[in-house]
Amino acid sequence: MSEQTNISVLISEERIRERVSALGREIREAYGDTPITCICVLKGSFLFMADLIRAIGDDVYCEFLGVASYHGGTHSSGAVQITQDLRTPIEGSHVLIIEDIVDSGRTLSYLVELLRVRQPASLKIATLLDKPSNRVVDVNVEFIGFTIPDEFVIGYGLDLGELYRNLPYIGIYTP
Ligand code: IMP
Ligand code: MG
Repeated sequence: MSEQTNISVLISEERIRERVSALGREIREAYGDTPITCICVLKGSFLFMADLIRAIGDDVYCEFLGVASYHGGTHSSGAVQITQDLRTPIEGSHVLIIEDIVDSGRTLSYLVELLRVRQPASLKIATLLDKPSNRVVDVNVEFIGFTIPDEFVIGYGLDLGELYRNLPYIGIYTP
């Protein structure tokens, strides 16, 4: 962690704070008084989830789903692995998947299939970051924090080999 010479700031801590607040208000407005079941896609989304649910306000249920698709490098393996399933049935619930980043779209399309068969009342997606230039599978994302260029980013939950998740900003990592 001490050598941060090849990390440049893409989105500052302040811009993240402002955008996440606005996104939370937008989501609450879209759902009205309806309780929302937020599903945090571990591990990358845990910081975004923590800030976003406070910005959404009112009735929010928190669930956690462990997913692994990267294996230490800067490119997706393409294979999605469930490392921890939900503890609670979501049938009849208004489910909002909370993702850190949509890259190829493979992880989310897999998750949408996985969760849809459990018959939630509704199923939507909120992502902090969208990298549309790398999309392989089409996914419909309702709430997007920032659209970013095709760069490998770290920080605010996103990792490189499990490090850098605790950076308060989003940075571009250049090897
Ligand atoms: P996808 O399946 O290709 O859309 O990849 C989605 C997952 O890959 C995300 O949930 C992240 O965990 C990871 N990922 C994709 N791009 C990046 C990146 O730039 N930095 C860190 N993780 C990434
Ligand atoms: Mg993720």
